[in-house]
Amino acid sequence: MDPNAPGSLARETPLATPGQLRESLREAGKLGAYRAVVRAALEQHRQDEGPLMPILHTVQDSLGHVPAGVVGDIAEGLNLSRAEVHGVVSYYHHFRAVPAGRHVLQVCRAESCQAMGCETLWQGACTELGLPPEGGTTADGAVTLEPVYCLGLCAMSPAAALDEAPHARLNAAKLGRLLDRARADAGAPAAPAGVDRVEGASSGAAA
Ligand code: FES
Repeated sequence: MDPNAPGSLARETPLATPGQLRESLREAGKLGAYRAVVRAALEQHRQDEGPLMPILHTVQDSLGHVPAGVVGDIAEGLNLSRAEVHGVVSYYHHFRAVPAGRHVLQVCRAESCQAMGCETLWQGACTELGLPPEGGTTADGAVTLEPVYCLGLCAMSPAAALDEAPHARLNAAKLGRLLDRARADAGAPAAPAGVDRVEGASSGAAA
């Protein structure tokens, strides 16, 4: 049968499967909700001097991230370019373009912590969570590992924060316990079999 013949069913290629359509609708619904949050944030901070940062904080506090889909809305609302808003979102580590995992572990990689072995801890955490060297979120969404540049605990380096709770004078065992706790709370298994915790960082008193 000639697929180009008039009326031929073979010519009709579906635009999307039902699953893809459902996913599109879900995404569209999400974006609508995100935009409502942005509108409220713009309204809330309209009179602020330098409203971009407070708006980004409000959006992230509400949504857990600053979705790429609303960067244009924020730019338009503040009469800025998309590039300007995107530049601020990507410059500050605090802002996320994608949602974080159920627990967020921030490991300080600034000078004082570097001098006390934080890089060894960082690499060990990446290995243990099965993440690339730059960190990220585990495939099961249980833990986000991200760098931070000074937690104000330099005198008690190396330091980290789990869900914003500070932990000082870390070593591999203490960091491992934090990871286990985060995984357990998120319903994920503890350290994967065969992964050794990296030793060698500073040891000290419990945080
Ligand atoms: S350098 Fe790590 S807490 Fe300040």
